[in-house]
Amino acid sequence: GAFGRRRVMRDWAATPLRTMLFVPGSDERKLRKARILNADTVALDLEDAVTPDRKPAARQLIRTELPAFSSDTRAAVGVRINPVGTALWRDDLHAVACESLDFVIVPKTEHADQLREVDALLTDLEVELGVEGGRIGMFASIETPLGVLRCGEISLDAPERLLTFAFGPVDLSADLGLDLTGDGLELLYARSQVVVAARAGGRLPAIDGPYLALDDLAGLKATTARSRQLGFQGRVVIHPDQLQPVAEIFSELTEAELAQARRIVDAFSAVEREGVASIAVDGQFVDYPVYHRARRKVMLHELLRGSVNGNEDAR
Ligand code: COA
Ligand code: MG
Repeated sequence: GAFGRRRVMRDWAATPLRTMLFVPGSDERKLRKARILNADTVALDLEDAVTPDRKPAARQLIRTELPAFSSDTRAAVGVRINPVGTALWRDDLHAVACESLDFVIVPKTEHADQLREVDALLTDLEVELGVEGGRIGMFASIETPLGVLRCGEISLDAPERLLTFAFGPVDLSADLGLDLTGDGLELLYARSQVVVAARAGGRLPAIDGPYLALDDLAGLKATTARSRQLGFQGRVVIHPDQLQPVAEIFSELTEAELAQARRIVDAFSAVEREGVASIAVDGQFVDYPVYHRARRKVMLHELLRGSVNGNEDAR
């Protein structure tokens, strides 16, 4: 049952992170609704989507609702706490920590020390709860100029618990004093920095931020395709209608791509057994990195197969 499942460590590397649905923690109706939507991950927010006066009530509401996610969905469910440095984040964590909490998101991260502070409290809470140490995963949002500048160091120095980064274009654009445009050219450097930093520290591929124009499906798809092209493995979504298109774009591998990846894997593993590590497949040079990339594509395809509408088959 849910009880046993939640006590054991999740295999995050084998968990698709295509969609991370944000829900304001003070909105009971949306919290209930989020349970039945097939997001890969659900983030219940205590930070920017909740007014200061509603935060105490939102903590209690989240604490009450978290166990329902365990039984209703296989999505990973977590909480975005308030920034380290505020008077709020410790109380946030004490209030919501329970066996059903799969992860926390640390907003506006600018230094690995902040993640170490959160890690230390999570370690204590895990002992109190009697769950495996490290079971509660951690995402760090990079959404300030200093965060962008330092995310490489953060990735290298952060506790092992840090899974990857979530990029925050909205706060960043406000801080930089620029307007977000359709093609997102203005944040290309920041996005690429976050993608590279996540992998440089051995973290999972990063997650991109949300698309705010709720009625613009074409824009959502185009920017999501761009996110994937840049190396993100998923993105934040803020409305149920955004889930399916985003999950599809981060899942899709054309028949041709898949067939080619399989030919590369087959051909390379055959010659490798005979001591050869460079061949031509379909007129294209293949060595170890090309082979590893092809193998990863095939594995990802197997992992995500049949999981566009949910993640029932994914683990
Ligand atoms: N999670 C769960 N359910 C959601 C949802 C969300 N993020 N956004 C909308 N819904 C639900 C609505 O409750 C509604 O269901 P109902 O008819 O059963 O009540 C349905 O989906 C359609 O919603 P709609 O009326 O189109 O949107 P809205 O006006 O209620 O809400 C937003 C629009 C933008 C306020 C809302 O989508 C939202 O709060 N998004 C999350 C924002 C957030 O957390 N941001 C912080 C981090 S980026
Ligand atoms: Mg914000």
